Amino acid sequence: MRLLITGGCGFIGSHTVREALGSGKFQKVVNLDCLTYSGNPENLKDIDDGKYRFIHGSINDSNLVQETIREEEISHIIHLAAESHVDRSIDSVEPFIRSNIDGTRVILESIRDLEKLGHEISMVHVSTDEVYGSLGPEDPPFTEETPVCPMNPYAATKAASDMLVQSFSNTYGIKAVITRCSNNYGPNQFPEKLVPLMTLNAIEGKKLPIYGDGMQIRDWIHVSDHSRGLLESLFGLSDGSLTPGEVINFGANDERTNLEIVSEIIEMTDADKGLIEYVSDRPGHDRRYAMGFEKAKLALDWEPLIPWEKGIRGTIDWYINNPEWVESVRTGDYLNWLERHYG
Ligand code: NAD
Ligand code: TYD
Repeated sequence: MRLLITGGCGFIGSHTVREALGSGKFQKVVNLDCLTYSGNPENLKDIDDGKYRFIHGSINDSNLVQETIREEEISHIIHLAAESHVDRSIDSVEPFIRSNIDGTRVILESIRDLEKLGHEISMVHVSTDEVYGSLGPEDPPFTEETPVCPMNPYAATKAASDMLVQSFSNTYGIKAVITRCSNNYGPNQFPEKLVPLMTLNAIEGKKLPIYGDGMQIRDWIHVSDHSRGLLESLFGLSDGSLTPGEVINFGANDERTNLEIVSEIIEMTDADKGLIEYVSDRPGHDRRYAMGFEKAKLALDWEPLIPWEKGIRGTIDWYINNPEWVESVRTGDYLNWLERHYG
């Protein structure tokens, strides 16, 4: 098995590269990443494994994608490369259309064209719970049967890419499954997302900007549980536990309000509660996500293993103990974003 991971220098991608190398199941793990603001080679700098190769390039470059699959004799793909931050998609949607939709189109067409030449490729397309839209307080969690109803531009581009994958699976027989996971947290997450932003601000005594009333709910999962699920999905596709075109949800059954998360971060970092600042709500802010993952349990024997209390402690400690990493992501782009978005 020779694996291509797209977006491997990002948060979930870097954990997935480690999980794949650690599994011992792959002869080669190739990481194709164009290093956007959130792609950070520091995430993988300690990897010293002859089976690993990093290629600096974009999934939008069809020649590069085809050449990589051919030259490296890729048999499996985990496709994570994407623009991933909702607030940025509200600011400017074009990069999301380019990477999330058109980038996925390039990968699918490359697989289709190379399969005509005899290559056999299985793919996991990594999507999100956000494609299902927003739940009311009493609604049951999303299942794989919940209709897709994206409510923000990021979610819309992810939903579009999911549909492209399903259509290629149906039309050209591409062997691909779509995974949808709830909110990830853990080490190496770019500090524009809730958990690392609030952690670093709390440690540094800066304001903690809570959107709206802070009562929005997410289902938080540790990134390593998600990465393990992605590999299980790939193996499930190979051994017939999953069928091409299928969707599979991952979650942690751990719903928390944003205010609860921030309060816990304050407590764990000994920060001052007075740092909390209620700011304007995100436009079109989804109120609640919750994921049902019975199918993952049944089909893949997967379930989340890291409880929130343990995971968040380890995550906060990681940010405290890795100041060099923190400095490496504080680039001009990041500082501009903070200035533009939070003022
Ligand atoms: P991230 O922003 O940390 O990483 C994205 C990576 O993709 C970066 O390394 C970036 O350089 C790379 N990339 C972007 N566009 C590219 C392109 N055109 N060509 C090559 N590389 C490109 O994001 P993340 O949080 O690690 O998310 C990874 C994937 O998982 C995304 O597809 C996202 O939609 C999905 N997902 C994320 C979450 C979450 O909570 N973070 C939950 C469910 C699903
Ligand atoms: P985020 O980490 O951006 O993930 P997503 O939008 O994919 O759920 O945000 C998680 C929640 O935290 C979401 O309800 C928005 C909220 N939030 C804030 O209240 N303040 C912030 O500064 C950020 C970045 C997010």
